[in-house]
Amino acid sequence: MIWLIGRSGMLGRLVEQELRAHNLEYAASGPELDVTRPDSIDHFAPKRKPRWVINCSGYTAVDSAESEEDQAWAVNRDGPALLARYCQKRGARLLHISTDYVFDGSLPDGYGEDAEPSPINVYGASKAGGEEEVRAELREHVIVRTAWLFAEHGRNFVLTILRLLKTRGELTVVDDQHGSPTYGRDLARAIVLVVTASRPVYGTFHFTNSGVTTWHGFASAIRDRAVELGLIPKSRRIVRVSSDQFPTAAERPSYSVLTCRRMISAYGFEPRTWEEALDDCLQRIASEHQARTFTLV
Ligand SMILES: NC(=O)c1ccc[n+]([C@@H]2O[C@H](COP(=O)([O-])OP(=O)(O)OC[C@H]3O[C@@H](n4cnc5c(N)ncnc54)[C@H](OP(=O)(O)O)[C@@H]3O)[C@@H](O)[C@H]2O)c1
Repeated sequence: MIWLIGRSGMLGRLVEQELRAHNLEYAASGPELDVTRPDSIDHFAPKRKPRWVINCSGYTAVDSAESEEDQAWAVNRDGPALLARYCQKRGARLLHISTDYVFDGSLPDGYGEDAEPSPINVYGASKAGGEEEVRAELREHVIVRTAWLFAEHGRNFVLTILRLLKTRGELTVVDDQHGSPTYGRDLARAIVLVVTASRPVYGTFHFTNSGVTTWHGFASAIRDRAVELGLIPKSRRIVRVSSDQFPTAAERPSYSVLTCRRMISAYGFEPRTWEEALDDCLQRIASEHQARTFTLV
């Protein structure tokens, strides 16, 4: 049996769909469970001992974390620490999700799984703190770092850009931050592959879709395909800007590309390109759009 935590989040919803699609026995917790409180973890824990706990919860508001530091550290470091302790006590394994933002983005060839974290914002530091706690508390853990997640629901760049393209004449998007957009559905598949492996390989892994782009490149690809699929009426101009011209509360890494070699060799899961994954996501949005009134967050 598997215990999914964070079922209401963007990734959590997709992981739950994937667990259901595989007919796996699972329990799932959403906002009723507070990962920062041990009593809440004990209260909502399933009666039967889980073989795996999947932690999809997180404090994910990168800019707000700069002013809500305590909350970010509580959810992103203390929460995983408590879950790892719970797993240690119950003899369960923990799969925990982390981020490319644990790195500063200064390496020209991107980051391997063993690279030393060097966060440059509170969110990244709190996530790196969570990783350390999990490693310290529990041997049987899998930490999966991912990046630039998108899906057809939740708060994410694809839906934001589609909404802005419908309401604004022109957009400005930064063109000096590089990363690998990752479809939550692909990550959810990889997660289920790990927790159903007969002989899981433990440790720290990376999973992103393959290929590298900038936020501007990503936005342009969303626009071009969305026009083809009839999701937006006509092509809008997307202007390139530098991060200096678009100041945000949190500094972001300029090249937070993750190499996924360990995931490929341990679990045989070869990620598709971010363009293929984006196309899949936009096609799903388009068919939902045809089926009912199009509502974007
Ligand atoms: N989104 C990305 O681009 C990205 C990139 C790299 C890594 N990640 C990591 O991927 C994981 C999933 O992210 P996501 O994009 O699915 O985020 P999300 O949509 O914000 O989901 C996170 C979930 O965690 C819940 N949560 C917050 N505080 C909690 C607490 N104290 N106890 C229990 N649950 C709590 C949230 O509930 P409320 O909404 O009710 O607060 C939300 O349902 C996170 O670990 C994140 O750091 C995300």
